[in-house]
Amino acid sequence: MKKLLLIALCLSATTLIAASERGEQLTDEKCTSCHMTSSSSTKLKNGEMGAPPMWGVMKKVKSHFKTKEDGVSFIVDYTMDPSEDKMIFPPAAKEHFGLMPSMKGSVTTEEMKLIAEYLYR
Ligand code: HEC
Repeated sequence: MKKLLLIALCLSATTLIAASERGEQLTDEKCTSCHMTSSSSTKLKNGEMGAPPMWGVMKKVKSHFKTKEDGVSFIVDYTMDPSEDKMIFPPAAKEHFGLMPSMKGSVTTEEMKLIAEYLYR
């Protein structure tokens, strides 16, 4: 019985790690072409920034929402269907960068959840 429990625990830990790795990979594929991360900073030089850097986005999201749950659901909702009235960035961000294009069709909601969870780590 104990052995079974141990196996179950190991399996769920592996699933968690796999989800986080998948989240990182998806973030690299889907977000960093616009949102600079430390791993993409060599790709994007000054002046080539198409969007606020990811750490800036996450700082904003984390200070705006009290719980991780709310922050994650905001990210999923906003990225799938961005609009000016949902923005937590000030209007200047939109004037400077333009509104973020919807990720619909490029990422599934499930994948976006993995991305948001990974960004919130
Ligand atoms: C084609 C460029 C582009 C891609 C790709 C992109 N974004 Fe954005 N994103 C933007 C721009 C521009 C803004 C700033 C304007 C705005 O808020 O809509 C932004 C803003 C945001 C915001 C803040 C929204 C607000 O104003 O409150 C979040 C959160 C965000 N992006 C998450 C993501 C995530 C997660 C991904 C990857 C799945 C991603 N973005 C991919 C361009 C992009």
